[in-house]
Amino acid sequence: MIKIAVLASGSGSNAENLARKFRYNDRISVSLILTNRKKAGVIARLKDYEIPMLYIPNSVWDDTPYKILDILEEYNIDLIVLAGFMHFISPVIISAFRNRIINIHPSLLPAYGGKGMWGHHVHEAVIKAGETKSGVTVHHVTEDIDGGDIILQRSIAVVPSDTPDTLEARIHLLEYDLYPEAILKVIDNM
Ligand code: GRF
Repeated sequence: MIKIAVLASGSGSNAENLARKFRYNDRISVSLILTNRKKAGVIARLKDYEIPMLYIPNSVWDDTPYKILDILEEYNIDLIVLAGFMHFISPVIISAFRNRIINIHPSLLPAYGGKGMWGHHVHEAVIKAGETKSGVTVHHVTEDIDGGDIILQRSIAVVPSDTPDTLEARIHLLEYDLYPEAILKVIDNM
């Protein structure tokens, strides 16, 4: 059984989608949820899934990443899945989990990635630039923000009536298909 830790800071709709998709899977289990925000929506959203959930403050992520490695070891985690996790991941964790940390980003990377490009900012920039396509990218996490190898990418059309909100809503739906698929692909290569 491959055990996944999902890291989320926000509403956690991707985290919930993964918990639901893999609930009865005999190869993959979402075994741990970590958040860096005490009031993150993900906490209420996943409370009925019987998955251990821990709040770890930013100071621990920054100052004592070894403590996080201990927790990941305690839960026998094989793969770290970032799902709207809004905090720096220490190189200590990245090197201990080399090629075993993945992220989902709501654009066609390398376009609209990097510093400041998250959530609504991405969709606003895409619409402002008059793009006719946007999409979702799942990639490996390295020391470069949004810079690791791409695992899967899928595009959708941006239509003239789109606002950042409508685009974001469609991109979220695409994410719910693409992330489980990308996880299966990563696991096949592990
Ligand atoms: C998603 O759009 C994802 O691409 C980005 O953060 C957002 C998280 O949304 N990295 P949710 O909390 O899973 O709803």
